[in-house]
Amino acid sequence: MKITKAVIPAAGLGTRVLPATKALPKEMLPIVDKPAIQYIVEEAVASGIIDILIITNRGKELIEDHFDRSPELEQRILNCGKVELADDLARISKLANIYFLRQKETLGLGHAVNCARSFVGSDAFAVLYGDDVIIGDDPACAQLIRVYQEFGRAVLGINKVPAADISKYSSLRVDHIKENIFSCTDMIEKPAKDQVMSLYSILGRCILTPDIFDILDTIKPGVGGEIQLTDAIKVLANTVGVTAVEFTGVRYDMGNKLGILKACIEVGLRHPEIGADFKTYLKDIASRI
Ligand code: UTP
Repeated sequence: MKITKAVIPAAGLGTRVLPATKALPKEMLPIVDKPAIQYIVEEAVASGIIDILIITNRGKELIEDHFDRSPELEQRILNCGKVELADDLARISKLANIYFLRQKETLGLGHAVNCARSFVGSDAFAVLYGDDVIIGDDPACAQLIRVYQEFGRAVLGINKVPAADISKYSSLRVDHIKENIFSCTDMIEKPAKDQVMSLYSILGRCILTPDIFDILDTIKPGVGGEIQLTDAIKVLANTVGVTAVEFTGVRYDMGNKLGILKACIEVGLRHPEIGADFKTYLKDIASRI
């Protein structure tokens, strides 16, 4: 029941962050000095993941370059005596076995996950959305894996979202089991007001069982004309049931402008190199607005 494989869908078009994402994948948007997707890969690795499949698309080659070696750059940095930085750069390529696969058409998150069928085989696997960075002492993915090991069925990473925003997310029907763990029997993607089941939404992480692929094959385009992962997980929830965990950690939505700014400010304030100076700067700005 060990989970060692993860899929990171990163093939979306990122239309909410244009024009920044016209040529730059949103997953490569930096939070201070690291691209969003590196935080996500590091979370997966810290959770025991060994093999990672990143689903990409045309124009996302930068993601592959980032997880490759960069011998000339490393040598140049070494020549400047910056050994630690050179090690940091080399370490990125050794974080995990990282594989890449192109989603040939951007048909939705469900379709992107379905591209991972042969990579996944018969194992349960983690899905970490490529634009959802979650930072906390206990990696969110690890929290879900522990719940999978206890309950043996698919697990959703959930949190409450503000009532005014629930129509932009999914909404779940949940029953409390214990502590931060729930049973989920139904869900809907981007609900209208009268369809809201709760303010709990799937936020960027889940553990799925391989039966999801046969279900995904049957899913028709849903909200926004996309093959929605939520619609496939709903089938699991309605039949065998799924478990949900209200994960700890702060989630930053790198798919929207405000989320990107929040991530940069909060991570910047904690940054060992620039945190103190940034705090002084922010306080000064705050006193004038
Ligand atoms: P989003 O719906 O946030 O991505 O998908 P998007 O389509 O890029 O966003 P907007 O609405 O145009 O701004 C969540 C995750 O699923 C991936 C995205 O890259 C993101 O990490 N995704 C989405 C795919 O891999 N393929 C798709 O067809 C759609």
